[in-house]
Amino acid sequence: MNKHLHPIFDRFLQRSDREHRLRQRSKVLWLTGLSGSGKSTIAQHLERRLYNEGYFPQALDGDNVRTGLNNNVDFSDEGRRENIRRIAELSKLYLSSGIITINSFISPTRAIRRMAQEIIGEEDFIEIYINAPLEVCEARDVKGLYKKARAGEITGFTGIDAPYEPPENPALEVRTDQMDLNDSVRAIYEFIEPIIKYPRA
Ligand code: ADX
Repeated sequence: MNKHLHPIFDRFLQRSDREHRLRQRSKVLWLTGLSGSGKSTIAQHLERRLYNEGYFPQALDGDNVRTGLNNNVDFSDEGRRENIRRIAELSKLYLSSGIITINSFISPTRAIRRMAQEIIGEEDFIEIYINAPLEVCEARDVKGLYKKARAGEITGFTGIDAPYEPPENPALEVRTDQMDLNDSVRAIYEFIEPIIKYPRA
């Protein structure tokens, strides 16, 4: 920490002011799961659904954030950690802006997700496990990356030669091999709606 920095927080508009304006409680929905489990697709539809219902959401995902803000981090353990650290800090800013953030990142280890939770705050971090077995994700192979990983053209690919540790106690688990997209989105929406709903005056 640089001792010549003097951040001031109390004279800025507060999160509660922004939540009041947006008529919602801000939270960070943290979707974790294998590549191809359906995180980003669910996030896109959930974002649209929330918007249509009058909420103000913002979805972020690995492929997009890694193209811009995080275009200088790789898929090594350290790279993934830095990727998630920045996203967690970004989410914290959105949180204080009153926004509902929907994050879709593999975030493969418990330690990485714990770090995100610590940055964001336990109260505001809602872990949602988007679960489909590796065989199913690999059979879908939407981006053709599993094929490349099996062929050795990509190394350190999550689920193939890099670890994925499932959450032990997620707030919610969605089995995308057993539920279709609409049902998955509905399950998450119904779970979070009471949490983000602004109390009526
Ligand atoms: S994380 O592990 O750091 O959380 P993130 O969610 O940002 O990963 O990015 C994952 C996306 O990057 C995948 O959906 C895939 O499209 C792409 N990708 C490229 N290389 C890898 C790799 N080695 N492991 C996992 N995903 C990869």
